[in-house]
Amino acid sequence: MKRNPHELIEKNVGLLTVLILVAIAFGSMVQITPLMFQQQTMEPIKGLKPYTALQLEGRDIYIREGCVGCHSQMIRPFRSETERYGHYSVAGESVWEHPFLWGSKRTGPDLARVGGRYSDAWHHAHLYNPRDVVPESIMPSFPWLQENTLTGEYTAKKMEVFQGFGVPYTDKDIAGAKAAVQGKTEMEALIAYLQSLGTQLK
Ligand code: HEC
Repeated sequence: MKRNPHELIEKNVGLLTVLILVAIAFGSMVQITPLMFQQQTMEPIKGLKPYTALQLEGRDIYIREGCVGCHSQMIRPFRSETERYGHYSVAGESVWEHPFLWGSKRTGPDLARVGGRYSDAWHHAHLYNPRDVVPESIMPSFPWLQENTLTGEYTAKKMEVFQGFGVPYTDKDIAGAKAAVQGKTEMEALIAYLQSLGTQLK
């Protein structure tokens, strides 16, 4: 009968021990090696600016409305993606994102670099009723964004929390936060956020 080579390992304690150690060493390397590059991947890109108070409120509306369920914000380094969306996403662009909105579902297009691609008026029309500008669109309408206004009650508090995560908001930013958003519509805030996306990588 032909011997199964695995039998040799299983019946030889010394060999089995050595091979187990090799397997564990390899597994540890896989976990430890990326940590050696942590400094590099956590470095913000040059000139990265944190979201303004209005953009930050817009981002929260983006989260609330579940836009991330249909839109990713992560351009992968493939030709098919960079031709369509622009430069692939780099880690240094999202070091101050809490939580990340990279997403994993693309019912609609990726939005990582949508900033500046359309006018504010286009976004307004599109969010109010996508079919007015893209007749075949299946994106839901968000008409209430135009009616709801921001009070700015928690804006400063939110920025303080982000400051705690290492986002370099100044005390002046925080002091002016409420006045910067008060009375603005949710639509304005969301558009300000969308227009900022992906514009900081030179
Ligand atoms: C049910 C899925 C779905 C949801 C939820 C959704 N979208 Fe969309 N979105 C789409 C689809 C599909 C398209 C492509 C057709 C179009 O342009 O309307 C699109 C297109 C877009 C575009 C144009 C992108 C481009 O490059 O042409 C923007 C901007 C956008 N969506 C923003 C949003 C925002 C902001 C929200 C949340 C308030 C949102 N979407 C929620 C499905 C969705």
